[in-house]
Amino acid sequence: MASLNDIRSTFTGYFARQGHAVVDSSPLVPRNDPTMMFTNSGMVQFKNVFTGVETRPYDRATTSQKCVRAGGKHNDLDNVGYTARHHTFFEMLGNFSFGDYFKDDAIAFAWELITRDFGIDPSRLLATVYHTDDEAAAIWKKVAGFPDDRIIRIPTDDNFWRMGPTGPCGPCTEIFYDHGDHIPGGPPGSPDEDGDRFIEIWNLVFMQYEQHADGTRQDLEKQSIDTGMGLERIGALLQGKHDNYDTDLMRALILASAEATGTDPDGPAKMHHRVIADHLRSTSFLIADGVLPSNEGRGYVLRRIIRRAVRHAHQAGARDALLAKLVPALVRQMGNAYPELSRAQPMVTETLRGEEDRFRKTLERGLRLLDDELGNLPDGAPLPGDAAFKLYDTHGFPLDLTQDALRERGRAVDVEGFDAAMEEQRTRARAAWAGSGETADAAIWFDLAQENGPTEFLGYDTETLEGQVLALVRDGARIDRAAAGDTVAIVVNQTPFYAEAGGQVGDTGTIRTSTGTARVTDTRRSAGVVMHLAEVVDGALQPGQSADLEVDHDRRSRIRANHSATHLLNEALRNALGDHVAQRGSLNAPDRLRFDFSHEGALSADQLATVEAEVNALIRQNDSVTTRIMSPDEARALGAQALFGEKYGDEVRVVSMGKRDGSGKGTDARTYSLELCGGTHVGQLGQIGTFVTLGDSAISAGVRRVEGLTGQAAHDYLRAQDHRMAALSNLFKTGPDEVADRVRGLLDERRRLQAEIAQLKRDAAMASGGDAQDINGMQAVLQTVAGVSGKELGPMIDAMKDRLGSGVVALIADTGAKPAVAVGVTSDLTDRLSAVDLVKAAVDALGGRGGGGRPEMAQGGGADASKAGEALDAVRALIAAA
Ligand code: SER
Repeated sequence: MASLNDIRSTFTGYFARQGHAVVDSSPLVPRNDPTMMFTNSGMVQFKNVFTGVETRPYDRATTSQKCVRAGGKHNDLDNVGYTARHHTFFEMLGNFSFGDYFKDDAIAFAWELITRDFGIDPSRLLATVYHTDDEAAAIWKKVAGFPDDRIIRIPTDDNFWRMGPTGPCGPCTEIFYDHGDHIPGGPPGSPDEDGDRFIEIWNLVFMQYEQHADGTRQDLEKQSIDTGMGLERIGALLQGKHDNYDTDLMRALILASAEATGTDPDGPAKMHHRVIADHLRSTSFLIADGVLPSNEGRGYVLRRIIRRAVRHAHQAGARDALLAKLVPALVRQMGNAYPELSRAQPMVTETLRGEEDRFRKTLERGLRLLDDELGNLPDGAPLPGDAAFKLYDTHGFPLDLTQDALRERGRAVDVEGFDAAMEEQRTRARAAWAGSGETADAAIWFDLAQENGPTEFLGYDTETLEGQVLALVRDGARIDRAAAGDTVAIVVNQTPFYAEAGGQVGDTGTIRTSTGTARVTDTRRSAGVVMHLAEVVDGALQPGQSADLEVDHDRRSRIRANHSATHLLNEALRNALGDHVAQRGSLNAPDRLRFDFSHEGALSADQLATVEAEVNALIRQNDSVTTRIMSPDEARALGAQALFGEKYGDEVRVVSMGKRDGSGKGTDARTYSLELCGGTHVGQLGQIGTFVTLGDSAISAGVRRVEGLTGQAAHDYLRAQDHRMAALSNLFKTGPDEVADRVRGLLDERRRLQAEIAQLKRDAAMASGGDAQDINGMQAVLQTVAGVSGKELGPMIDAMKDRLGSGVVALIADTGAKPAVAVGVTSDLTDRLSAVDLVKAAVDALGGRGGGGRPEMAQGGGADASKAGEALDAVRALIAAA
């Protein structure tokens, strides 16, 4: 029996032999469609190739595409478990032609593959065509030899495929398998076509047109082919089963679930195992593609699926996280075909376990409440909306989970009542917002959030994607159009732009619609709504348009590197300085990083060097950076660092990077850095390149700041330092290693020369100052000396007193700015004159204050050197009067 894995490779192998490129499945979150929640068919990744907007290096391709139909327009969630062919996750096999072959070959290939390679009995097959498509009908007749009654013309949209309200579309032909008249059901197009007798196995779409929003339809430049065949369905057929859940792959998952719960796979818990097998696939693949459980958008769909599975696991008797336990079984089945699943296995397991454990805590209480409520209701009455809302609001029961639980008992929920309760809560939130002192300007963001939900941020995984313009806001009001030259805040439904938060600056980039281009200069968030602050540089933008959003990649890469380096720096500082180091602020800009932390006193050069070396060693480790969602308590138990100034809700994002030698704290002791953080980070630490610190400084009492550079900026900085060094070597005519010695030598020499000059000046002053005059019978030297400092006056006066033997010496040092004065009186004259009095008189004349010393020697300073003559005159007058 061919396994699903065999069938998948038979399909792609067949088309590879027909010259098709075997292309990887695209991620479950479409990057190129603003309105689509999850990739729901093979052609999604080729949408722009069909319309000619994008080109690929091949014009024939084949894929096995991961698809999710849950949430959004295509939602199979409610039926999973109850039917034979509904899945939230399935694989779509397809072949594609981009302007290469068309109807002839598409039908011929399909016929050959199913009747020859798959060996399906041709007499069991029939085809539908769009009612006007004579060409397709003729080809079927020729290729398969079908009589007219096995080519059924369908006039409805069933045979006209469109991706959505706009985009590529065209007539299609579907291949059906007839299980035989022992199964109830009629052929396609008949009143009882929904029976199980005739099963559609393959849809071949002839992409011919592009549908525009205004209702017009235009011929595609290249006629193309898009086909889709559900692997689970063809698998069931080829394995002789009637139920997709009986195929080998699904059965293996069901058996794993039964074994883990110790129950019979086909017993009373049968339906639960089916749900678990399906939900295990969708949740694991979604997590592997970067979707994490949250309360909005795609993350909420994931959460709903997990919670639905948790209830079924509980019903099946599981007492711990069942999905997490089954991940290895899934990886065994599908890890080869989808290596991204194997790579993400630890992350998938951990995310599922955390989410399951958290919900299991409230599940039982919620189920009890549900039982109580039902007990109070008349038989068969629907559950009142406010009860369903209470289950949602306080016990985390998504509405569809409550509906699912009631379905088993043949009951429904009053959905209108639920919606009304939800609306009431919104009204309360609005009132609280209005009363919170926010400005009128801010109210618009709150209103937009109420209307559309928070903007979905997909920028952890992608820097480009298509979004839809929901509103243009200017001066606190919505506008209908923004034209070239206008500045405007652009609101979209989903964005790759990071809004400033947690020290990481907002992204910049471009937003383009079919009619205009805006340059985004900053990104902020208010009330959950991301505002792209932009200037329209070309054409005009309008709400409702699809928009290509593109983050400035180079700038974002530099921000990422700086942000990851900041986490490493935080840990390295704690290792070097102690556990008192706690973050007090940070900046992660494209050109630099800055980290403020609690610590007393400056860091020594050695400490800085140790920190820098440790960060660089971690960068060279090139460990991958991982993010996980968990409760704050779980994060603390792991040993995660909480960031200053952040408010944490029920859930936190934990970013881990680097390996340590096992000496760390918490339950995750081997991880070097664990921080709660919503920012964007490098995938591998090596992408930081290199890290240099620019020294530390004081910010406030007990808070220091270290600044640093990474990557190219660090390299440029080191290069510039090198150039400076080269210039110095050149100047000092010595090698870089000798520059310091050379400078030290020059400084010594300078000091020696300065001393020598001072001595020479003193000598010169002494030589010229020998001329004593007789005043009042006393010898006096009264003089201004240039080029000596105040502190040199004392020794000069002593020398002159010695030379005079008996007399008075008054010297004013004219240093240019502030003059200094010193007076000496030989001891034989101190009974007539005091040096202190003389100095005071001189200081006075020089515009200074004070001055003092002993009767033999006194000193003081003045303010105005131009008064030196008057100061000496004042001294002379006192001598004359003594
Ligand atoms: N796009 C078509 C489908 O989803 C064929 O792949 O059925």
